[in-house]
Amino acid sequence: MSLGVFISVGAWAKPTVMIVATGGTIAGAGASATNSATYTAAKVPVDTLINAVPQIQDLANVKGVQALQIASESITDKELLSIARQVNELVKRSDVNGVVITHGTDTLEETAFFLSLVVHTDKPIVLVGSMRPPSALSADGPLNLYGAVALAASPESKGKGVMMFMNDSILAARDTSKRINIHTNAFSSQWGALGTVVEGKTYWFRQGVKRQTTQSEFNIENIKGDSLPLVQITYGSDSMLPVAYDAYAKAGVKAIINAGTGNGSVPNYLVNTLKNLRQQGLIIVRASRVPDGFVLRNAEQPDDQYDWVVAHDLNPQKARILTALALTKTSDTKEIQRMFWQY
Ligand code: DGL
Repeated sequence: MSLGVFISVGAWAKPTVMIVATGGTIAGAGASATNSATYTAAKVPVDTLINAVPQIQDLANVKGVQALQIASESITDKELLSIARQVNELVKRSDVNGVVITHGTDTLEETAFFLSLVVHTDKPIVLVGSMRPPSALSADGPLNLYGAVALAASPESKGKGVMMFMNDSILAARDTSKRINIHTNAFSSQWGALGTVVEGKTYWFRQGVKRQTTQSEFNIENIKGDSLPLVQITYGSDSMLPVAYDAYAKAGVKAIINAGTGNGSVPNYLVNTLKNLRQQGLIIVRASRVPDGFVLRNAEQPDDQYDWVVAHDLNPQKARILTALALTKTSDTKEIQRMFWQY
C-alpha cells in the first residue's frame, strides 16, 4: 500500500482523512455523458477521484489508497476481510482522523455493516458510492465524495460509528440499504437518516442505539484467514423447492437465512425441511423479503419449538453477515438470537 502524504503550509489544523478506494460506479466510466446507467464500474483510480474534487482539500488533508478496483457485486469474504484489515490498520494510526471508503453501491450495505461489527474505533468510517458514473451528466459521485470527506473530517462524527453518505444523507451502517436500483436517492433506512451534510457542514438529528465498533464483541484482529463461515440466503416465493435447501446443506453451508414472505413466513411444505436441517446442526434464521418492519419471534412460526433464530429488523443480506460472524464465536442459537437483538 503506497501512501502520499500531503501536508500543505497552514494545514496543520486540518484533520487527515484517508480515502480507501475499492471500485464501483463512483469510479466508473460511461461511453457518453447521457449514459447515467450504462457504464463500466471500477475504472477510475483513487488519485483521479481525489483530484476531480479539489475542494475536499479545504476540508482535510486527504490521501488515497487503492485497496481494490472491483464492482461490488463481485466482493467475496476475501475482499471484505481485506478491506476490514486495511481500514483497521488505518484507524489505529495516530495521524489518521477518519476514513472514507469509496465502494460500489450494490453491496455497500454489507461492507458497512461488517465494518461496524469488526473495527474497534471511535474515529469516523464513512462509506460512499454513487448511482451515476463521473462521466455522466449530473454525476452524484463528486458531491457524495465531498460530503463523505466533510463527515469523516467533522469532530462531531467521533463515536458515531460506521456511516454511509449518499445523496446528502448521513445513514447508519446497520439498517440502511439500497432500495432503488437506478436513482440517486437509492439508499434509505426505515428508521430514518442520522443527519445530513449541507455545503460541507454536518447536521445531526438522531443516533443509533445498537452495539457497534468499540462496543462490539467481534474484532477483525481475531478473524484469521480469508473466509467466513458459509451462510447462504434463500428467497421466499410460492412453489419453492425443498431440494435447494438440501443442496446448500450438502455444500457445507453452516446457516441458512430464509428471506420469507411477510413476517418471515415459511410455507407448510418447507417446515419439515428446515426442521430437519436444524436437527442436522444448521442454523436457521427467519428473515423477510419485505423491506420494512421486523420479524417477530414465535409469530408466524414457533421459533422456540423449532430452535430457529429471527433476523429482527435486519434484511437478509445483513442477517447473513451477522450470522457468519456469530458462527466465528458460537453455534448456540440463544447466543445468536441475543446478537440479533443487540447489533
Ligand atoms: N456494479 C455496481 C457496483 O459496483 C454498480 C453500482 C454502483 O456502484 O452504484 O456496486
